Amino acid sequence: MKKLVIYGEKKLQGEQIVQGSKNACLPIIVATILTKGENVLYRCPHLNDTISACKILTMLGCSTKINTDCLIINTKNMYGNEISKYLMNKMRSSIIFLGAMLARCGEAVVYYPGGCNIGSRPIDFHIKALKKMGVHIKKNGEKLYCKLKNSKIKGAKIQLPFPSVGATENVILAAATATGTTTIENAAIEPEIEDLCAYLNRCGAKIKILKNNLNIITIEGVEKLNSCEYTIMPDRIVAATIFSAVAATAGEVLLKSVDEKHLTHILNILNQMGCKIKKYNKNNIYLKSNEHLKAVDHIRTLPHPGFPTDLQPIVMALSCIANGTTVFIETIFENRFRHVPELKKFGAIIEVKDKIAVTKGTPSLTAANVYATDLRGGAALIVAALKAKGISKIYNLQYIDRGYENVEGQFFKLGADIFRK
Ligand code: UD1
Repeated sequence: MKKLVIYGEKKLQGEQIVQGSKNACLPIIVATILTKGENVLYRCPHLNDTISACKILTMLGCSTKINTDCLIINTKNMYGNEISKYLMNKMRSSIIFLGAMLARCGEAVVYYPGGCNIGSRPIDFHIKALKKMGVHIKKNGEKLYCKLKNSKIKGAKIQLPFPSVGATENVILAAATATGTTTIENAAIEPEIEDLCAYLNRCGAKIKILKNNLNIITIEGVEKLNSCEYTIMPDRIVAATIFSAVAATAGEVLLKSVDEKHLTHILNILNQMGCKIKKYNKNNIYLKSNEHLKAVDHIRTLPHPGFPTDLQPIVMALSCIANGTTVFIETIFENRFRHVPELKKFGAIIEVKDKIAVTKGTPSLTAANVYATDLRGGAALIVAALKAKGISKIYNLQYIDRGYENVEGQFFKLGADIFRK
């Protein structure tokens, strides 16, 4: 089994251009189905999930070409409307193919999706919303047979019980070329959703995001969408991971091609911890760590614009070495502390009760052999291992590879002694 071998205690230093966002690129790849033409997507990260999404497109009769600087997708000759169980299980985002396939083909056969095990992750909101938009759904075990009742999806008023990212994306994809207008109340308004809407609007869609306390997205269905060239937004979680690793190792870094407005939470926390931050402009941010990090009091994960659940494990790794106590309250997923037993192997002091974890910082960590339990939990282990004294080994790299492009290369470039063996 391949593992990351990390010699800890090296100060990370240098410059890095942040990769494109996984969570933005996947729905945009899916959205190309609606355009019936050739799309060129720049800054698509080279990840297993990107490859899985391309394999699904190929299975549906589309063509994909992964170049070093762009992904070219032609959806003109798409003929299929069924995704295999194997590919559905590869990632969570496979479920958002459903809305796009229904809009394009009128019917679709899919299975329950895979993805990281961070909670039960049901798809009831997706199904209820699509039913309201005129889709008939028959379930047979894990398999879903879905078909439009009329020739087109019809716009509807959708009220989400919780601002689910995936359900919001599925409805947007189903609604973009539907008849009539769809409104999503209590929609997720994460930057990755804004990126999906920006792509679709460039293709000719009419989507508006109203950020008020109801967070409404309106999608006025259009007859057809054109293909386009589009650059995927930078990955805010990868940027935060690099900043956290640099902060943990008392280093300094200039992150390039980031978007400052997506990084307010991590920058606030690092600032409170005592790091020096300099914004050269909104796309280039410099961070110099403080040798003695101070713990922040508490962190509660919430839907956007609240603190992102994806950052919780990464900031937890940092809190384990900060002076003081931090209380983490995880409100999005019920099983998102699986990295805690692994972090404890480094000597971290963490207590967990239900959805609350409390860290008590210790000045040093010692190397350990640990297993990534999910994507961001795996990233947290890298942050801890870079700080720890001695040689750590991190196993289960398939989770980390789901979100970080050449992860060892990214940290090696900043001076880490990190190898995949
Ligand atoms: C997406 C992101 C993931 C991030 C999460 C929360 C992708 C590929 N994944 O996941 O990185 O951690 O948003 O920001 O973009 N829920 C239901 N029923 C549903 C759908 C969701 O009960 O039909 C619940 C979930 O159990 C969870 C909450 O809603 O408690 C949020 O889930 P959701 O926003 O849908 O997360 P994902 O789209 O799976």
